[in-house]
Amino acid sequence: MQAVRNMFRAAWTSAERLEGKTVVITGANTGIGKETAIDLAKRGAKVIMACRDMDRAQAAMKEVVESSGSQQVTCMRLDLADSKSIREFAEAINKGEPQLNILINNAGVMVCPYGKTADGFEMQIGVNHLGHFLLTHLLIDLIKRSAPARIITVSSMAHSFGSINLEDINSEKSYNKSGAYSQSKLANVLFNRLLAKKLEGTGVTTYSLHPGVIQTDLWRHLSGPQRFVMKMVSPFTKSPVQGAQTTIYCAVEPSLEKESGGYYSDCAPASCSAAAKDDDMAQKLWELSCQLLSITWE
Ligand SMILES: NC(=O)c1ccc[n+]([C@@H]2O[C@H](COP(=O)([O-])OP(=O)(O)OC[C@H]3O[C@@H](n4cnc5c(N)ncnc54)[C@H](OP(=O)(O)O)[C@@H]3O)[C@@H](O)[C@H]2O)c1
Repeated sequence: MQAVRNMFRAAWTSAERLEGKTVVITGANTGIGKETAIDLAKRGAKVIMACRDMDRAQAAMKEVVESSGSQQVTCMRLDLADSKSIREFAEAINKGEPQLNILINNAGVMVCPYGKTADGFEMQIGVNHLGHFLLTHLLIDLIKRSAPARIITVSSMAHSFGSINLEDINSEKSYNKSGAYSQSKLANVLFNRLLAKKLEGTGVTTYSLHPGVIQTDLWRHLSGPQRFVMKMVSPFTKSPVQGAQTTIYCAVEPSLEKESGGYYSDCAPASCSAAAKDDDMAQKLWELSCQLLSITWE
């Protein structure tokens, strides 16, 4: 019902400015992340593009600078499939940046063949959830000191097809590439929900979202019938600029200042699945994530 209502809403626009604010966007060299970087740079924010490939990052940064007219855009190396890289990135941010007002956990991989991160995690749960969980953990003190601040995690409506397999989170016993993607996107919503509770009273608010169905490089691993279906629906998909709007809404909309932990789509609150509201599972996933990453985060 909410989805139907959203279809008839006027497009969201905002003249909100972000001078003096610092933003980190993961996976900002292409797709939704790059369009988000352009928009937030236009609003006057200092934008740090966190990307795994520095050649692609430099080329994208040039585009972001040209399109936004802002010189306050930089790129830094971050490979979410490697906790060493995540730690190096976070250390550089913690040392080099006096503040971090908006963290956008955007990077993602979808339905890739079975693979493992440097730390031995299945690639989709490893990059989409565990990588962002560790990154957020390592930056949280700086983000708290920068309050009011926001943490945005880009999930997907695919979360509603997912379940968390606590006994085999890395799909070692059996791997279904769509199931592993859905699991990782459900993990994003559960993480966002519990993170909001843990951050109550700190001035840091959190948001997760479905950006829409957008033609981006994310589809690179689709094959066979899935690729055919995506080709058929492609005339009805959003552009990357349209796909970035809900992320931008969560990052800048003033009326969201007092909201935290919610799920959004089409620049409005949206319903997430029952599994995504399971606080007991959110807690278990949090504990398992800490254990896998060898961190303590109460
Ligand atoms: N497109 C859709 O229809 C859709 C729908 C629902 C949700 N989403 C979500 O939207 C987010 C952005 O996706 P998109 O559509 O913009 O896809 P995209 O164009 O493929 O962008 C994904 C970004 O993530 C980066 N990335 C992948 N693995 C990484 C790693 N190990 N370390 C650091 N960065 C990594 C990619 O870097 P490289 O360029 O180096 O690979 C790229 O910059 C994802 O979280 C996705 O799940 C997208």
